[in-house]
Amino acid sequence: MRKGILSLTAAAAALALGLTACGGDSGQTTTSSASATGAATEAAKAGKIGVILPDSKSSARWETADRKYLEEAFKAAGVQYDIQNAQNDKTAFQTIADQMITNGATVLMIVNLDSGTGKTVIDKAKSQGVATIDYDRLTLGGGAAYYVSFDNTKVGTLQGEGLVKCLTDKKAEKPIVAYLNGSPTDNNATLFKAGYDGVLKPKFDAGEYVKGPEQSVPDWDNTQAGTLFEQMLTEQPKIAGVLAANDGLGNAAITVLKKNKLNGKVPVTGQDATVQGLQNILAGDQCMTVYKAVKKEADAAAKLAVALAKGEKPTASSSVKDPESGQDVPAELMEPQAIYLDNVKDVVADGYVTKEELCTGDFAAKCTEAGIQ
Ligand code: BGC
Repeated sequence: MRKGILSLTAAAAALALGLTACGGDSGQTTTSSASATGAATEAAKAGKIGVILPDSKSSARWETADRKYLEEAFKAAGVQYDIQNAQNDKTAFQTIADQMITNGATVLMIVNLDSGTGKTVIDKAKSQGVATIDYDRLTLGGGAAYYVSFDNTKVGTLQGEGLVKCLTDKKAEKPIVAYLNGSPTDNNATLFKAGYDGVLKPKFDAGEYVKGPEQSVPDWDNTQAGTLFEQMLTEQPKIAGVLAANDGLGNAAITVLKKNKLNGKVPVTGQDATVQGLQNILAGDQCMTVYKAVKKEADAAAKLAVALAKGEKPTASSSVKDPESGQDVPAELMEPQAIYLDNVKDVVADGYVTKEELCTGDFAAKCTEAGIQ
């Protein structure tokens, strides 16, 4: 909060709009004010933007990247906003949405926990004239006005290609490949799988690779992923490659592989370019991750949200078909990038993770080897 007259003015504007930060013990709340006096007037005229993030455990990204970049974008635009995290609680998710609407949100941006509760929230918002944006995850049959995400099938393709590259580097013969898919209730997980199946299924069909055990991990729960992978490895000790749908699931598999002295021998994929995932790559325990420049995603979503809050009707550059409703949803989709040991430095150069957080302890020397400045 800035000091002096400006923050007083902004606070008064917030009060006048009834924009007090709504509580909720599970999530953090941020209510910001405009960054300049002119902008403060603009912000008071524009509606307020509510954002609901899904949790803070299935991936570090939601709190370390999405919240940060969305906040920066809203502050720069001088709009009122409220970002909360539902901490994987579907009831809390709906309560937060209700509170945001009651407190004057005119735009609601959600990362759904499943399509059912996502749709309930979108329906309610629509009935109150609140504009809706599906952020990162498409709510199937939800009918949000916009969808902002990455090309998620491409994410899966990069994971499949990554595993092939790492298995080829290891000269693996007829490798048995296990799958740790994302949450069955996340449409992204379906798209990721479509992407990696597109690469790997032809290899299974041709007898080049052997399809091993496969599990979808409820809520992307990393602890459950560890238990599931332990069972897989007991059932099939010759697993030679693991397609893990994100860095958290990958790390769960790596932990089990370590116990069995198989880490580094069995390539594992990931996604999100988390500090943990990148460190696992530096250590040689993870084959690759997929970097999604969340800043671009957050900026695109914030741009739409700000325009909607000002009562405009922004146009999106593309659209996706909702497979459930058959409707086209106006969309902004970003490009993902595959990260291997030789380009971990790109993620640092992009400012997504800092050298300080990545290159701690034993990783310092590995960072130098990997050319991280
Ligand atoms: C996101 C991933 C994330 C996963 C778990 C997906 O919907 O696209 O980036 O790792 O959810 O939070």
